[in-house]
Amino acid sequence: MNCFENYSLVILNIVLFLWSSRIETCHAREGNLWSLKSISAPANSVLDVEKEKGYGGTAGSSHQHAGRSTMSKFTGNKDMGVDDTMSTPQGGSSKSFNVLDFGAKGDGNTDDSQAFEATWAAACKVEASTMIVPSGSVFLLHYISFSGPDCAADIVFQLDGKIIAPTSPGAWKSGLLQWIEFTKLNGITIQGKGVIDGQGSVWWNNLPTYNPEDSEGIMSAKMPGTKPTVLRFYGSTRVIVTGITIQNSPQTHLKFDDCTTVQVSDFKAASPENSPNTDGIHLQNSQDVLIYSSDLACGDDCVSIQTGCSKVYIHNVNCGPGHGISIGGLGKGNSKACVSNVTVRDVAMLNTLTGVRIKTWQGGSGSVQGVTFSNIQVSGVKTPIMIDQFYCDGSKCQNESSAVAVSDINYINIKGTYTSNPVHLACSDGLPCTGISFSAIELKPVQEDSQPFCWNTYGELRSSTVPPINCLKMGKSSKTVVDC
Ligand SMILES: *[C@@H]1O[C@H](CO)[C@@H](O)[C@H](O)[C@H]1NC(C)=O
Ligand SMILES: *[C@@H]1O[C@H](CO)[C@@H](O)[C@H](O)[C@H]1NC(C)=O
Repeated sequence: MNCFENYSLVILNIVLFLWSSRIETCHAREGNLWSLKSISAPANSVLDVEKEKGYGGTAGSSHQHAGRSTMSKFTGNKDMGVDDTMSTPQGGSSKSFNVLDFGAKGDGNTDDSQAFEATWAAACKVEASTMIVPSGSVFLLHYISFSGPDCAADIVFQLDGKIIAPTSPGAWKSGLLQWIEFTKLNGITIQGKGVIDGQGSVWWNNLPTYNPEDSEGIMSAKMPGTKPTVLRFYGSTRVIVTGITIQNSPQTHLKFDDCTTVQVSDFKAASPENSPNTDGIHLQNSQDVLIYSSDLACGDDCVSIQTGCSKVYIHNVNCGPGHGISIGGLGKGNSKACVSNVTVRDVAMLNTLTGVRIKTWQGGSGSVQGVTFSNIQVSGVKTPIMIDQFYCDGSKCQNESSAVAVSDINYINIKGTYTSNPVHLACSDGLPCTGISFSAIELKPVQEDSQPFCWNTYGELRSSTVPPINCLKMGKSSKTVVDC
């Protein structure tokens, strides 16, 4: 790198910094996009009430954690008659339930699942309650489900400690799709500085050739064939995940299925580049999803948006290592898939496989409609811009005439460096992509130059691009888009 490049890098950083600080000040306004209801985290109000009542206000307990542990002494009640004895004078709902008071050991060896289940059972009954997983302890949990639908609304799972997964095959049953799940809840928040560690290496290395001697004989058998997602929310509304880290996932880190009004912020996913199928965040059949201020490093898609998702808004996210931000693969096995109104902006991609990608299987139906990718900074990304309507996982995929339609996709201000192809747009013969627009594209090779590739792609260039995207067919495809 010569001096000039160094200099321009500094300028770029300054510009990016000014840019992002401007973005912060606009947060409130942008939160209204897609008319997301602003969801408040009930824990803060709980804490405020505690302070007012003097529970956390004793000398030396100005620190939040101190306030909380003081609180737990008041609520700790081994006979679990917490509900009745702790009603506040106003009949309010400032209720905290600490897993240590329900028998959790937090020593990293004892299975604390039953203590967590008991804590949940108590917290579940009380509106706006807080289940506390305190810092300074490591909790080993087997498969666990924090399940509604009979729970009160607005429960907070305050995670400041560490939760780890078992690594012995005997601790798992086969076919388990997730390790920790929250289902059928109305208002659920997971917040705190805590870490959930899936100890995934025992799954990633679970190859037929795997030698038990490699991990000092701890492994006596293979892990189940199905690798679990670490944390999954199902059938819930008003879901918040903020502050926490999920690391070393056997498979997907964080998944939302059948959820509405989801907010993920200050979230970290951290697994190595070579860990297979470890998506950062996986969305399916979910609407009104906001993901921001998060660092996603993993071995597969940083965010994967699947069928049934609409009004998805992702911004100020770092992605890498990983496979980029992807919509799809959609339409597998001739299925119908619908994704609409997705905005991805202010994302930095570092050394990822793709940048922003839409992938569909041949033979599917439905559509991907109304997607904007803007302000995407790519560095050493293999293929920054990709649409692949011939997606195939390596098994034999025949050409079929039907396809998931792809239309109204906008690429704005996508800049940086690529290592293989700057732009790869492979659209179906039967149903070409249409309404694909580009402006302010500036993609430079790390080493060898490569030209954009387009196949059956219709759209417009709203400004000149680097490199020129001459392969784009101007105008609209005559084939109409199938509605969802
Ligand atoms: C997507 O956005 C368009 C244009 O703003 C709107 O007309 C449409 O209803 C939205 N679709 C969904 C599923 O929200
Ligand atoms: C499928 O179609 C594409 C595009 O027309 C073509 O390049 C490819 O060779 C075809 N594959 C098969 C298996 O027919």
